[in-house]
Amino acid sequence: MPVPSTTSNMESLEKSLCDFSGSTPLDQRFRSLFTIKGLAATSDEHMQRAISIISAAFSDDSALLKHELAYVLGQLEDSRALPTLKGVLEDLQQDAMVRHEAAEAMGAISDPTVLPVLEQYRNDGDVSVRETCELAISKITFDNSSEGQALKASKAQAKVAEEQSGLGGVESAFKPIDPAPAMTPAASKEAAKSQADSMSYDATQVPLFREALLNTNLSLFERYRAMFALRNVAHGGGEGAVQAVLALAQGLKDGSALFRHEICFVFGELCHPASIPSMIQVLNDANEHEMVRHEAAEALGGIVEEGEEEQEAKSGDFKLVMDTLKRWAEDMEAPRVVRESCVVALDELAYNNDPTQFHRVEAPTAVAA
Ligand SMILES: [Fe+2]
Ligand SMILES: [Fe+2]
Repeated sequence: MPVPSTTSNMESLEKSLCDFSGSTPLDQRFRSLFTIKGLAATSDEHMQRAISIISAAFSDDSALLKHELAYVLGQLEDSRALPTLKGVLEDLQQDAMVRHEAAEAMGAISDPTVLPVLEQYRNDGDVSVRETCELAISKITFDNSSEGQALKASKAQAKVAEEQSGLGGVESAFKPIDPAPAMTPAASKEAAKSQADSMSYDATQVPLFREALLNTNLSLFERYRAMFALRNVAHGGGEGAVQAVLALAQGLKDGSALFRHEICFVFGELCHPASIPSMIQVLNDANEHEMVRHEAAEALGGIVEEGEEEQEAKSGDFKLVMDTLKRWAEDMEAPRVVRESCVVALDELAYNNDPTQFHRVEAPTAVAA
């Protein structure tokens, strides 16, 4: 069978993503969006096309889909997406979750020309939008500071070293842009012995990062930096991962819904079994903010992705995850964004656990926070 050209691919993907009739299932449209994101990286022409298709899809009425569109635009890291994102942030008729994501995406692109508009919406009526603008301003300011530039250079060095050693090169190429750069281990040590030391995370750093995570006297930006540092510790696996996940779970009691939703997002990135009880608790809590419950549902959608042996060992957890997601997917009393998130998460679980599928849906790291 002839392989379709990328151009015709883009056309069919556009049809799927921009089908506002409701006849294309939401989970299929999500997959089209991720495929468009992948194709955007292949050429400048595709990048432009991707930005225009994704921008057009904002005519949809699903807040869940639209917040994902904004997220993907940010992850493309292309300033040509800024007019769309700015328009979404300025549109008070848009759901706050979508406007929040637009502001975060502007931070991801990190172009200082957007600072005035972010400053303006730092006084928005919605607290999550306000906090996101504050974070995005801090991120852009940091990225353009000497510390930010040095961090960027050391990350680039680490990436080259990874690629040369044959380890993690592909993985790091698809790493999402965090809304705040992870606090470096060097910040928690007197002095790093070497460049490599300054970027290596381990279990001994958990208490320091946890303290910063939970310290409400620090700015949201610094606390986010601690959150992503704990995420990096957890990426190392082992007992350090369990400790880092449990430290992160403590942050779910924070007063900021934005902060709590980001912790759920990090759990979605990690897919660590130790996060399952807290994610189920969040999803089941009808009094929790819908943005946080949405993120918990998506985290649960990515939780089972290991080999068969581990899946069997965790089949009890898996069933509980499935049952909880099904319950809220079918509960018509639940907020729409929670229901839809559960539908998408169930699709992801089914797809990732289907042995006939060669390609997994892009990992939950690709999903918007
Ligand atoms: Fe978000
Ligand atoms: Fe999200």
